[in-house]
Amino acid sequence: MSASDGLHEPKIYAPSEAAVRSAHVSGMPAYQALVDEANADHQAFWARLAREHLSWKTPFTKVLDDSEAPFFKWFEDGTLNVSYNCLDRNVEAGLGGKTAIIFEADDGTVTRATYSDLLSRTCRMANALRERGVSKGDRVVIYMPMSIEGVVAMQACARIGATHSVVFGGFSAQSLRDRVNDAGAVMLITADEQARGGKSLPLKAIVDEAIALGGCESLKNVIVYKRTGGQVAWDAKRDVWLHDALAGQSETCEPEWVSAEHPLFLLYTSGSTGKPKGVQHSSGGYLLHAALTTKWTFDLKPDDVFWCTADIGWVTGHTYITYGPLALGGTEVVFEGIPTYPDAGRFWKMIQDHKVTIFYTAPTAIRSLIKAAEGNAAVHPDRYDLSSLRLLGSVGEPINPAAWEWYHQHIGGGRCPIVDTFWQTETGGHMITPLPGATPLVPGSCTLPFPGIDAAVVDETGNEVPNGQGGILVVRKPWPSMIRNIYGDPERFKKSYYPPELKGYYLAGDGAIRDAKTGYFTITGRIDDVLNVSGHRMGTMEIESALVSHTDLVAEAAVVGRPDETTGEAICAFVVLKRPRPTGDEAKKIAKELRDWVGKEIGPIAKPKDIRFGDNLPKTRSGKIMRRLLRSIAKGEQITQDTSTLENPAILAQLSENN
Ligand code: WT7
Repeated sequence: MSASDGLHEPKIYAPSEAAVRSAHVSGMPAYQALVDEANADHQAFWARLAREHLSWKTPFTKVLDDSEAPFFKWFEDGTLNVSYNCLDRNVEAGLGGKTAIIFEADDGTVTRATYSDLLSRTCRMANALRERGVSKGDRVVIYMPMSIEGVVAMQACARIGATHSVVFGGFSAQSLRDRVNDAGAVMLITADEQARGGKSLPLKAIVDEAIALGGCESLKNVIVYKRTGGQVAWDAKRDVWLHDALAGQSETCEPEWVSAEHPLFLLYTSGSTGKPKGVQHSSGGYLLHAALTTKWTFDLKPDDVFWCTADIGWVTGHTYITYGPLALGGTEVVFEGIPTYPDAGRFWKMIQDHKVTIFYTAPTAIRSLIKAAEGNAAVHPDRYDLSSLRLLGSVGEPINPAAWEWYHQHIGGGRCPIVDTFWQTETGGHMITPLPGATPLVPGSCTLPFPGIDAAVVDETGNEVPNGQGGILVVRKPWPSMIRNIYGDPERFKKSYYPPELKGYYLAGDGAIRDAKTGYFTITGRIDDVLNVSGHRMGTMEIESALVSHTDLVAEAAVVGRPDETTGEAICAFVVLKRPRPTGDEAKKIAKELRDWVGKEIGPIAKPKDIRFGDNLPKTRSGKIMRRLLRSIAKGEQITQDTSTLENPAILAQLSENN
């Protein structure tokens, strides 16, 4: 933790003079001036930026409508089109020939798309969707590999006012089915297979399986992009090859001009209860923050080559691949593969080959690449020319100071600032983050709120706690890119994010502490039953439901997280079987079966790392599972907590055994 304890002064990295001179937000006084402007008149601040950064078809006259709080509306009577803002306006500004995307396939093949290419491909895709009856407000699920086509599919939805819901290609048939069903999607866009790490992994087959599960009756068509040419089953009434759907489509397509509040996308994410929630985002407010954070946090300039390594299946890929960089007319790398193929030098080689200037990745990736580099000199970043880099970013989970220092030294050559960006699927874009030409950096701290974001650390009743004292992270004022709703479940939206005791503040779900001296924020982790495994959000209840749905075997299950050196947190499951508690090889066999089961139910990212079997779980007399004890056992700690309310103390010793 970087909060100063009075004994150890945290290390501080001030921005270089060159960074200060050239940055969009140049120096701390410039940052402070923006913060002051927002404090003086929050709405005027956002209105000014919305006018300066977005092209409106009809300008908005009202900035914020809080009459139905917490269902806030921004710029509602303004109309615009997100794909127009990302594509047409760049072409109209003379950037048609500029490279928008440098795509590197799993096997290293590189293809480029200019802004003109992207625009015409988006228009053709949009026309193909319209031809099949997709129109404004319809939901379209995108289950695609990382590809130019994936970005184009999202932009095409935006162009015709359809609301996309991208499902990460690692999710199972069951998860895909649930998302199609919840959204009532009319169309699904997928690929035959995805190529990752030298292997072909099925996508279309999983779509078929998802549909066979039932509940996807809203789907009219499945559009299939031929990526690998692998064998697929075909339903001639339902399935269409993308190349057939695109054949003969016009390269122009009139955008659908929508209200700034029109839902641009849904993105399902894990919450503290079993069912993932469809986080609904707007068009205008969302795009404003995507563009603004790309400009100020990443300091994106016309000559930069930006690379965000996230997948478009996560919000990071939405905001910092599909929308932010394109809204600014930037050039970006899109990567199909994985960081360890053909070897763990892949990222460094790609930075070298494409002369990447801004690199944005997750602490998990950094930590695993540190390990790989330590084990194999050939993939050590020092072997590559990384001199093109000028700025690094981190996202998804806390970055520990040791990984920060390594990233700074070995990737950034000691000269590149690192922006540790704290945000969430729900926030649409960066919330607490350094600005590279202004904020002095402290490893392990995401530093200060983005201008216009009123973040604070409070107690359970919403009162701000003094710096140096931990509490609950909230955002006190609404902001343009905030979540608008949980699709189809406004009550859950209110309950999850605006609990009555918090004075109308947005509850992030994380704990935080501000440094006593600097006021810098450090995120201390989730305060709900949500785990962060490799930067992926997983609900413990979701994994528990998956385990107990194996009704032949499992009587009861409880899932907790424990710290993990590489993945941040690891999933630990305690399971009571419907048969005697297994030991030895039998325990191993059943653990494997359950792991695979969870992989099939949710996706491989949800597979528990540890599974322990017990005759029972530690419970209070009223039958409540005592998770804090399970968390200690998972960590391998001695139980020092009060166990007086525990009904069955003997169970602790049993669960602590490694079976
Ligand atoms: C949760 C949100 C934001 C895009 C990727 C994850 C954790 C995120 C940081 C950071 C510490 C972080 C929080 C947050 N988180 N960024 N820089 N430092 N923690 O989006 O899946 O919605 O997860 O990720 O716990 O609540 P997400």
